[in-house]
Amino acid sequence: VNNEIRQLLTLHEKATKLYHHILLNTPAGQPALNYLKKRGMSEELIDQFNLGYAPDQRILKPFFEQEKIDYQLMRKSGLFSEDQQGALNDRFVDRVIYPIKNGQGQVIAFSGRLLDTSKTDLPKYLNSPETPIFNKRRTLFNLDVAKKSARKTGKLYLFEGFMDVISAFGAGVTNGIASMGTSFTEEQVSIIGRATNQLDICYDGDEPGQNAIDRAISLVNDHRPSQLQVKVVQLPAGIDPDEYVQKYGADRFNNYLTNQEETTTDFYLRFLRNGKNLNNQNELMTYLNQALKVVAHVQSPLEADMYLQRLSSEFDLDRQTLKTQVRQLQQQL
Ligand code: UTP
Ligand code: MN
Ligand code: MN
Ligand code: MN
Ligand code: MN
Repeated sequence: VNNEIRQLLTLHEKATKLYHHILLNTPAGQPALNYLKKRGMSEELIDQFNLGYAPDQRILKPFFEQEKIDYQLMRKSGLFSEDQQGALNDRFVDRVIYPIKNGQGQVIAFSGRLLDTSKTDLPKYLNSPETPIFNKRRTLFNLDVAKKSARKTGKLYLFEGFMDVISAFGAGVTNGIASMGTSFTEEQVSIIGRATNQLDICYDGDEPGQNAIDRAISLVNDHRPSQLQVKVVQLPAGIDPDEYVQKYGADRFNNYLTNQEETTTDFYLRFLRNGKNLNNQNELMTYLNQALKVVAHVQSPLEADMYLQRLSSEFDLDRQTLKTQVRQLQQQL
């Protein structure tokens, strides 16, 4: 590794320790610690993820200056914003700090969350900008830990947010990862494909979450590393994985992940109903055509037959007709 990269990693290590210390051991960190406790975060979880707090008074710059850290290095770290005159200011101010690590477990960036989003239009989460050590498109939160855990469980869970990963971890689901707020990328798909054979997408149970599941499935299908299987766990309406754990506890969360795991076809057969009135003849027809197209992509004839069976009994349609239609669609693939 070249020198600059090593030094940038060292800055992040120092900043992680400082923010963590402030959260746990200083009066300035008390409100943030209360906030995390109120959200159900134990000291163990705070330690496991090395969570911290960047206080209101800017502290990182004086801390680094006292350590005689080079101005250019500080500039490149992404930990400061630069004003017109080239003066640096702490980027993270009055935010809970989530250290973001690379696949080797080295801190390469931070995300900072506001304690209170109600009386401001600042973004809820603020991430480090791209730097020589941080490429958003290639980074997955908790990958270093989750990929080891995936060797035992055989799968990774993809969540939307950091808090989802952390709460899932607290509930014993240590194989969870999240993308960086930006949408899920092709690069992340191939990184996941190298770490595991199965990805379970478990996004928030709201409409944006469902649309994001659709996009994530398409992305994997378009760039599928050969052996990677995708499944879906859709949460109940209006709740995210973190909220599920806090509300119903670890056991129910684990049961939910196991029992509600479904194929992408199952997901689409439900997803495609959104916004359609299936009592209306035309809309039912549109739905059935879209649904049969999805079934036409299913490789296993037995599995395909199972979906057709379901459609035929729900809508009182002849199973053989559905089969014929699927065969026609398959010829057009
Ligand atoms: P959510 O709005 O679902 O946030 O965005 P969350 O994870 O549930 O966060 P809490 O529970 O309110 O703390 C999902 C993810 O999108 C990114 C973050 O990575 C977040 O975890 N995001 C969201 C941003 O990058 N910036 C934002 O302003 C909001
Ligand atoms: Mn600690
Ligand atoms: Mn969300
Ligand atoms: Mn959420
Ligand atoms: Mn949340």
